[in-house]
Amino acid sequence: MKKQNLNNSSRRNFLKTTSIAAIGLPTALFSSFTESKPIEKKEIGVLNEGSKKLLALFDLKYPFFQAAPGGEQVAIAVANAGGMGCIQFTWTSPDDAYETTKRLNAATDGNYYANYVLHFEPNSLDKALEAGCKNFQFSWGIPSQEIVSKIRNAGGKFGVQVSSKNNAENALELNPDFLICQGLEAGGHIQASQYIKEALPQVLEVAGPVPVLVAGGISTGKDIRMAINNGAAGVVMGTRFIATKESHLNDFYRQKLVEAGEHSTVYTNCFNDGWNAMHRVLRNSTFLNWEAEGCSLQGNKPGEGEVVAKGETGYDIIRYSGRHPLEGDTGDFEAMCMYAGEGVKKIHDIPSTSELIDRLWKEFENK
Ligand SMILES: Cc1cc2nc3c(=O)[nH]c(=O)nc-3n(C[C@H](O)[C@H](O)[C@H](O)COP(=O)(O)O)c2cc1C
Repeated sequence: MKKQNLNNSSRRNFLKTTSIAAIGLPTALFSSFTESKPIEKKEIGVLNEGSKKLLALFDLKYPFFQAAPGGEQVAIAVANAGGMGCIQFTWTSPDDAYETTKRLNAATDGNYYANYVLHFEPNSLDKALEAGCKNFQFSWGIPSQEIVSKIRNAGGKFGVQVSSKNNAENALELNPDFLICQGLEAGGHIQASQYIKEALPQVLEVAGPVPVLVAGGISTGKDIRMAINNGAAGVVMGTRFIATKESHLNDFYRQKLVEAGEHSTVYTNCFNDGWNAMHRVLRNSTFLNWEAEGCSLQGNKPGEGEVVAKGETGYDIIRYSGRHPLEGDTGDFEAMCMYAGEGVKKIHDIPSTSELIDRLWKEFENK
């Protein structure tokens, strides 16, 4: 583990091809995994064999993985605090992936992974490998044998995000080092069609010795205890890690995460400009106006095509874009897409990443 902290503890590829029916399901209709009764209730958090295997595999102190969002500084902070950092490379140019990998390798001991959404071509993968990225994770698809061979030939490891027994079985044919079981609780784009409490037992049934992490709605050490008590080897956190001091979100979005409550998120395909897939976001004016007018399909949405904000270099961000508010943006942030998982209701502050990891571990242990 690197350096300090050891002791504390074009995006417009435009898949406008499919027209998924608009859905805006209230989250309260479902009880989430973290609120379900554990199969075996333990007062004190204890790592299971899968967790220990995961820690050994990546030389980690904690079975806490950052999900794709957050940015480079969170990835560095998570890695240096003993967890597994993540960098999102799906829409990153090959040259930028090369430079970012070099910086991450200089700032950490390499305990981070690059995320690729396989709905898009993983164009920067070769350059990431060339720069020395060792760990990869794929979502929204199963990597080809060619991709797997490139990673293995470079001495690398990889994981695949799955959401059911069927696609877990497909992924397992490639002998991945880990699986991530995503549930409908998750923030961001959701490939899952079931909540974790349904999906996890199915994936565990076929995973055998391969460690399975869960992603979706995990915000506290108690949530982590629930996940591990139910057989997960570790957890992947997106929304919790973007609500940190180091994340590249802008302050407006960060504050909205802190203010969000029980019914603040919605599972929808409202923000489908750039990628037409289901996602979970905070309800905002763009969503509410669209819903009030009947959730019309692309081409007939209220205010469609309006520029609501600008990116740091001055490019337009239009209403219904899947681009979330980042540092350096200007404009009407409230109208933008703000991804958040159901666990956002348990987020009440913006700690530093290392403070957060320290707290999560103490809550997990519950000593
Ligand atoms: C802001 C945001 C952006 C995301 N971007 C990606 C992405 O680029 N690739 C990906 O595989 N998953 C992405 N996800 C989903 C996460 O990988 C993960 O499944 C999810 O964050 C877990 O749920 P949680 O947010 O409740 O922790 C994103 C999630 C959020 C909140």
